[in-house]
Amino acid sequence: MIKVLFVCLGNICRSPMAEFIFRDMVKREGLEDRIQCASAATSDEERGNPVYPPARRKLAQLGIDCGGKRARQMTRDDYRAYDRLIGMESRNVDRMRRICGGDPEGKISRLLDDAPLPRDIPDPWFTGDFDAACRDITEGCEILLKQLILSQT
Ligand code: 4NP
Repeated sequence: MIKVLFVCLGNICRSPMAEFIFRDMVKREGLEDRIQCASAATSDEERGNPVYPPARRKLAQLGIDCGGKRARQMTRDDYRAYDRLIGMESRNVDRMRRICGGDPEGKISRLLDDAPLPRDIPDPWFTGDFDAACRDITEGCEILLKQLILSQT
C-alpha cells in the first residue's frame, strides 16, 4: 500500500481538491487497494472546517463529493505514516520540512515538481481562480499516479 498526503496552507481549497481528484483517478484505475490518500494543512487556521464552497462546487462539477472532509493540521507523525507528502507550493514544502524536522527519507515534494513546467499552484483562496487550480491539480495528480504505477511494476 502506498500512502499519499496532500498538503496546502489551509486544507480547505487545494489539498482537498488534490485528495478527492486523485482518489477518483485511483478508483477509475481500480487501484484503491494499492494507493490511499488524504490531505492536511500546514496551518491551524481552518481546523475542523469543511472544503471551501467554490472548491466543493468545482469538485461537484467533476461528479466528486467531498462532503465529509474537515480540515486538519499535519503533524510530525504524518512523516512516518505516509510514503509521499506533497505540497502545492514551495512555501508549503518549506513549512512541511520544518514540521517534520527535515526530510531524511526524501518523501516531501511539490505536486508540480515533475511537470514539464515545474511550478507552484497559486492559492485560489487569494486568486479566486478555482478553474486554474483544478487544472494544475489534475495535471499534477496525473503525473503522480503514472509515477506510482511505474514504481509498483
Ligand atoms: P488552501 O487555501 O491553502 O488552498 O486551503 C487557503 C485557505 C484558507 C487560508 C489560506 C489558504 N486562510 O488563511 O484561512
